[in-house]
Amino acid sequence: MSADSSTDESAEATTESYGPDDGILVLDGLTKRFGGLTAVDDLSFAVEDGEILGFIGPNGAGKSTTFNCVMGTYPPTEGTVWYRGDDVTGESSHGMVKRGMARTFQSFRPLHDRTIVQNVALALVPDRIASLSGLRGETRRRAADICERVGLSDRLDQRPDELPHAGLLRLELGRALATDPDLLLVDEPFAGLSNREVAGISELLESLRDDGITMVVVDHNMRGLLSLIDRAVVIQFGSKIAEGRPEAIKRDPRVQEAYFGGETP
Ligand SMILES: Nc1ncnc2c1ncn2[C@@H]1O[C@H](COP(=O)(O)OP(=O)(O)O)[C@@H](O)[C@H]1O
Ligand SMILES: [Mg+2]
Repeated sequence: MSADSSTDESAEATTESYGPDDGILVLDGLTKRFGGLTAVDDLSFAVEDGEILGFIGPNGAGKSTTFNCVMGTYPPTEGTVWYRGDDVTGESSHGMVKRGMARTFQSFRPLHDRTIVQNVALALVPDRIASLSGLRGETRRRAADICERVGLSDRLDQRPDELPHAGLLRLELGRALATDPDLLLVDEPFAGLSNREVAGISELLESLRDDGITMVVVDHNMRGLLSLIDRAVVIQFGSKIAEGRPEAIKRDPRVQEAYFGGETP
């Protein structure tokens, strides 16, 4: 209903509520408790089709847990998740992938005894692991195309441990792309990257958006995100504290308080 509420009225953010058609992905009142700890606390926001949304918050704010609840790693304690208008609350990871969502993980999980192209191929054909010893022509070609798409075409037959950190992220993105997603959740892509690598990865993410993939990009601060994202949702202690255009977010007093104790960045 009030998905278009402006940044400057973030005090209202806690009372707004969303419906199934407010975006490609909509969270309404999402809450996740681990015992006595509330990691995600009545969180509501919508992801618009075709946008790159920044999902920002200090370490421990609940960003990964939000992703885990959306992608079926954990069932939410309360709240609703809609994807393309369907109620997908508590849907399995496999189900979400089939619906067109994919994610990358904060910590990479490639198979170290497989090559780069095999790692992508496994994401392409997860049910046919046995056939990989002799990776068939068509499968290899598709996997190689994806490797090229993410900038790894000269690394096909290397092992993951031969890649620099930014290369592992490219591989992680390639594995996500192998499921042909409409919406990609990218968890902390810029952690551990140099400024140059941040620029290279940003360029890749922008080109994926140009191909029609909607994205939610997580970071613990605005570094590297400002020029990439269309909009940001900022959370602290599992709750939304601000939402809007990146320039406005940077000036938002609640965001400055959360990050800098009220000082201007
Ligand atoms: N599986 C879990 N069991 C218990 N507590 C968890 C679990 N996963 C995350 N948490 C806690 O939830 C809070 C939010 O964590 P997380 O979502 O990883 O934050 P972020 O990704 O924003 O850094 C933290 O206090 C973290 O310790
Ligand atoms: Mg995290």
